[in-house]
Amino acid sequence: MPAPLTLSVRRRLEKAAREAAQASYSPYSKFQVGAAVLTDTGKIYTGTNVENASYGLANCAERTAIFTAVAQGERRIRCVAVFTPTPTPTMPCGACRQVINEFGSHATVISVCNSAQRTETSLDQLLPAAFGPKDLVKAPTRSSSRKAR
Ligand code: THU
Repeated sequence: MPAPLTLSVRRRLEKAAREAAQASYSPYSKFQVGAAVLTDTGKIYTGTNVENASYGLANCAERTAIFTAVAQGERRIRCVAVFTPTPTPTMPCGACRQVINEFGSHATVISVCNSAQRTETSLDQLLPAAFGPKDLVKAPTRSSSRKAR
């Protein structure tokens, strides 16, 4: 059973997300986003958005943080905190919700911003009826589907 998400862990994640935004590479949107993820090993990994002159290649802060964690061998995400430079909290985009689902379908999602406002929700609420690893298991294997035809 993992340790509960205490107030102090929540605050650490929020601070880490805010700080991560300082490294944002966002010369096109000027929208500096930071993210921090807590894994089931108790470690925190951070990320920021990285844009590209070929605009569509931008990588969101949340995905940068998650990919960094996974590259270090992590596989389960318990909480994602995101900071956006806005007066009210912002939710992760659809692509990031799908990537969070892969590693933390019940993860807590915290959003913080430039004001004292914050929101706390869960990935289940942000991406109901998600497509995920379980759905691929249901597909017939190549050899069994060939036999059926
Ligand atoms: N962005 C994020 O980093 N996370 C989100 O959840 C939404 C959007 C980034 C992508 C792009 O660099 C900039 O914000 C404007 O969309």
